[in-house]
This record gives sequence, structure tokens and C-alpha cells, in this order.
Amino acid sequence: MSKFYVTTPIYYVNDKPHIGHAYTTVLADVLARYNRAMGNDTFFLTGTDEHGQKVQTAAEKHGISPQQHCDDTVQRFQELWNTLGITNDRFIRTTQEEHKRVVAEVLQDLYDRGEIYRGNYTGWYCVGDERFFTEKDLVDGKCPECGREVTAITENNYFFRMSKYQDWLIDYIKTHPDFILPAFRANETLGFLKKPLEDLCISRPKSRLSWGIELPFDKDYVTYVWFDALLNYVSGVGYRTDDEKFKRWWPASCELIGKDILTTHTVYWPTMLKAIGLPLPKTVFAHGWWLADSKKSNAQNENKAAGNVVVTENGEVKQKMGKSNGNAVSPESLIAMTNVDAFRYFLMAEMSLGNDACFSEETFTTRYNSDLANDLGNLLSRVVKMTIRATGGAIPASGELNADDRELFAAVDNAIAAMGSCLESYKLDQGIASVLNAVRAGNRYLEKCAPWTLAKNGETERLNTVLATSATAIYKVAVLLAPVMPNKMGELVTALGGDAKNLPVITELGKVASISGWQMSDVPPLFPRLEVQKPAPAEKVEKKSAKAEKKAAPAPQLEVPGVITINDFQRTELRTAKVLKAEKVEGADKLLKLEIEVGSENRQIVSGIAPWYAPDDLIGKNIVIVANLQKAKIRGIESCGMLLAAKCGDTLALVMPDKDIPSGTLVG
Ligand code: MSP
Repeated sequence: MSKFYVTTPIYYVNDKPHIGHAYTTVLADVLARYNRAMGNDTFFLTGTDEHGQKVQTAAEKHGISPQQHCDDTVQRFQELWNTLGITNDRFIRTTQEEHKRVVAEVLQDLYDRGEIYRGNYTGWYCVGDERFFTEKDLVDGKCPECGREVTAITENNYFFRMSKYQDWLIDYIKTHPDFILPAFRANETLGFLKKPLEDLCISRPKSRLSWGIELPFDKDYVTYVWFDALLNYVSGVGYRTDDEKFKRWWPASCELIGKDILTTHTVYWPTMLKAIGLPLPKTVFAHGWWLADSKKSNAQNENKAAGNVVVTENGEVKQKMGKSNGNAVSPESLIAMTNVDAFRYFLMAEMSLGNDACFSEETFTTRYNSDLANDLGNLLSRVVKMTIRATGGAIPASGELNADDRELFAAVDNAIAAMGSCLESYKLDQGIASVLNAVRAGNRYLEKCAPWTLAKNGETERLNTVLATSATAIYKVAVLLAPVMPNKMGELVTALGGDAKNLPVITELGKVASISGWQMSDVPPLFPRLEVQKPAPAEKVEKKSAKAEKKAAPAPQLEVPGVITINDFQRTELRTAKVLKAEKVEGADKLLKLEIEVGSENRQIVSGIAPWYAPDDLIGKNIVIVANLQKAKIRGIESCGMLLAAKCGDTLALVMPDKDIPSGTLVG
């Protein structure tokens, strides 16, 4: 059994957590869950960074003590992690006594050994980032990190002899290719190290800032917040307080950070550890940013000059999501639209680890509908419904496998192998993509093997094999995705008749031959489709032309009576559906009440087709419906959608696809 110790950065307690914060924490949680699922001894640390100028200023503004301010604001993080199902083993706060003691002891030790000395300092200070910069670091005279104004400060301070470790650090990075990942980030740090490395100012005079850990050798100073914060990674696992625990977990296997805090983690932190005499974390992995449209005008936007602005591959100008850019999106709003697991899935599947990703509600909805509602939700609902119809829910024993069955199992085995290797190489999104490939292979398999036709033709042995194969495949998919979507995959496994609390170790999953004999139960759609809230095309045109008006008179819009545009047509959502049940509506000669399957969803439609179709003739038929029609009550019975039919004289004919095609498929 190997050991896995994963950390997130500790978050500034002042911030309101947004998608960027949630991303790192969910990522750490998924890695921790995978490692536990692989049988590795795992420890997961997260927490909050509670000292420094911003906290002191905010507390003063509210007229409360900084500690009270931290105690209030830390809850936002703790509550969100709770909602998101984060399985951290410890939540560290830098205001905890134990951490403060460790920081003081480390400082004293370094001071006693001459690693810390007193000197004069002149620098440019950014309050927002709580960091000093030299003249040459500044960009257009502003903070190189966030673009805000900086203040010149000269004062007597304490310094850590960081410069003396420069050559050692360059050599360490070059000889330890896993230390900084992705590799291009290692090159960035090596680029930074081409300039002479200066000593690090690790104190702040109390006359300017009092909210920090007091220097043990000078009561007039507190510790620089980064020097304090970085030590959480060792104090959080017992450094100087619990030797056994510390020996068990340190060095960390993986410290996850965002790319904006690369220098602190790959220059300050390793040199600090070297001076202390501790080994370095195996890997510091820097992920990219979640970007979004800026909500501020250029004039308001202080960060324009700095690295907060990114031009994407499509040439779009986006900004790092964050409070100061006015474009932070709260995780709660997306969870309210869908559910916790869908939000976790989106974060993990959408961002290619290491690169930036753009957030918009449309990307979120599209990813949710295509991967979860259509592909995964559809596969589950078809397998469950078919099995319940065929056997009452008992997963039958499989007969001999043919090439189609083997192809599906090969796609699943491929996903198992890919997930293992993608986790090793921090390519989680690719691992997830290979699992979704297996899901799509499952849907294609059902279309090809057409169990509904096998059932109709009485080909029971083949039907049993198809049901057993597809059920086993989807079970393995659920085990692979459980660390990303623990709740929904638990529901899925339960619906299959399995024990969600006792899933096989992923490395052993390939050996699970079949789940025949389990008893399935019906399950409501795990991922109901989200309606896309796109502005109506007319509105879009209006907005554009309002802008354009200033430049030139808009071209006259010619309207041909009775002719609609393609956009008008696309507002009508036509989909295939399968009739599951049909019955006459009592007291209404013309009406039939149909229960139909539309992808992973079941609906009820009331239609005036009774004079032309007997209920029994309709069961199992594929039809086409208007899926986005407003709900209506017909004779007091709810009807969700309208089926399409052509009527000529006394003849009425339903519109039906001329091939077997999955229900829920878009028609257009
Ligand atoms: N307190 C320091 C970290 C100290 S660790 C010893 C800090 N805190 S932070 O709250 O500002 O940021 C915490 C993490 O959130 C960083 O890794 C940062 O990159 C990440 N994110 C904040 N906004 C982000 C995005 N828009 N996108 C992705 N992650 C970003 O820095």
C-alpha cells in the first residue's frame, strides 16, 4: 500500500469562495477519493490563511477583532466544502495555537542558525497580494500579480537567506522532473531563477501591521503572511507536535496550487524547507485559471495591465475569475440549477489540468446535458427499463459473448486502464473522457443489439446476454466515476442492486466479470435535462443593432409573410420518443393518455388520436414530439409536449422515425 498526502492552498479567509477555489478543493478531493479507492493510505489537508493586512483592515471596517472576523468568515469555506462533499482529513486555520507555535519554533531555529538576519528594506508593497516587489518586478509601475497600485516602503526588517539556495534550487528542479508539474511551469520557475534571487523579507513591523504571528525573537514584529501560511503543509500533519504522524505523511505527495502562486510554492517554499532541513514535496502541481468575461469596464478595471487578463485560443479576451474582477460565480448558483455531483463533474471534466478554462453558464449547461443527461443518464435509464420489462429487474446470466459484447467490455477495460494512468500523470479530464467514451459505446451497443427487438422476437438467450453485458458495463462506469460524483454514482449502483458503500478497488475492477443475479430497481432520472436559457434570437439581433446604430443605419429587415428564419425554427425542440403506455381518457372519445420515454426522462402526453390508433398498437412505437412546448392541462390531465401527426381528410398518420433510433434524439 502506498501513501498519498494531498494539499490545497489555504484560502484567504476574506474571500467569498467561487468556482476557482472550489476547483482546487474538488480536485484534491477527487484525487484523495481515487487514492482511497485504490487502497492507498491517504491524507487530505485544506484550510484557511487568516493573518495579514486584508483581514486586519476588514475587521477594523466591521468594528470587530480580526479573530472574530476570521471566525465568522471561515464558515463560508467550511459550509461550502461540506455541501460539496469534501473529504478532507483536517481543516487547518493559521490562527490555531498549534500552527502558531510551529511557526514560532521554526523562526527561532532559523534565527539561531543564522538563516534569518536583520536588515533594511526598501520595496514596493501590494496590499492586495500582501507581497513586496522590487522596482524591476513592477509592470507599468503597478503590481505584476494583480495590476493594482503599489506603495514604496522602507523599513527595518528580518530576512531569510533565500539567495544562498539559488544554485541548489536550480539543480534540484533540473534533477527532479516531477517536482514542478506541468513541466512548462518548471521552466517558468527556472526562468525566474535566471535573475539573482534576493533574500526574503519575512517580517512586518507591528506599527504597520499587528495581525500576524509575533516573531519569537522580536516582539515588535509579526511574521510575513506567506512565511506563516506555507508552513501549514507541515504543521497540518504534526511537524514538531506529533513525530509519528509527521513521519507517516511528510513529504507531501502532491501540493495543488493555482498558477498565480507558483513562485511562492516553487521558490520560497523549497528554500524554506531546505533551510529547515526537511525533504521537499514530491510534486507541486499548478493548475490553470477559470476565466470569465470581465464585469467591469476598462476604466474600472485596475487589473488590465497585469497577468489577470488572458487572450484565449479563439482570440477572446477573458479575465481570471475573482472578486476583484467582479466576475466571480458562486458554486451555489450552479448547484441550485443541477446538483452537487453535476457541479463536481463539470469542474473536473471541463478543465484540462494545467491549462485555463473559460466558464459560462452555456458551457456548464451544454456539458451537463450532453455528458450526464443524454449519455450517462440515457444509458442507465435504458438498461434499467429494459431489464425491468424483461425480467422484473433480476440481472440475467449471460450467454456466450459475441464480438459486440466484447467490444463494449474492451471500451470499459480501456477506461479502467486510462483512468489509472491519467491519475498518475495528472490528466484527470482525459481519464473522465475515456469513461464517457465507454458510456457512448454502451449507448451504441444498445442501439446495435436492440434488446427491445430481441424481446419482441423472443430471443431470450441473446437478450439476457445483452442485458447482463450492459448492466455490468454501466456498473464499472459508476465505480470509475464515483470519486467525481459520489452521490449520484452511489444511487446508480443502488439502482443496479449493488452495495454503494462497498465498491471494488479500481485496480481490481477489471476482474469483476459480471453482476448477474443482482436485482435492479427503477430509478428517477439521475440527471434531468436542463433547458438552455438562450436569449431569443430576436433579442440578440436587437442588442447588436442598437450598438451598430451608432455607426451606420441598420440594413432594413425584409419580412416575407409566412417565412421563418432558421433561428425561428430552432426554437422548436423536436425529439424522438418511445411510447411506454397508452390508455383511453375516460369520458373523452378522442383522447389518449400516453406515457413516453424521452431519453432519460419519462413524460405524459395527452393527444386526440383515439379515433385512429388503439392504445395497444402504440406501445413500443417511436414517435416525434415537440419537447419544449409549455405544459398544458387537457380535461384536467397534464400534458407535457405534443406529438407530431399529419392529417389529410379522414386519415391521420403519426410521424415516426424510419429506423430504430434512441428516444430523446433531437430531430431537425
Ligand atoms: N492564501 C494564499 C495561498 C497560501 S497557500 C500556502 C492564496 N489564497 S487565495 O484564496 O487567493 O487563492 C487560493 C487558490 O485559489 C490559489 O491556488 C488560486 O490560484 C486559486 N484561485 C483563485 N482564483 C482562481 C481562478 N479564477 N481559477 C482557478 N483558481 C484560482 O493565494
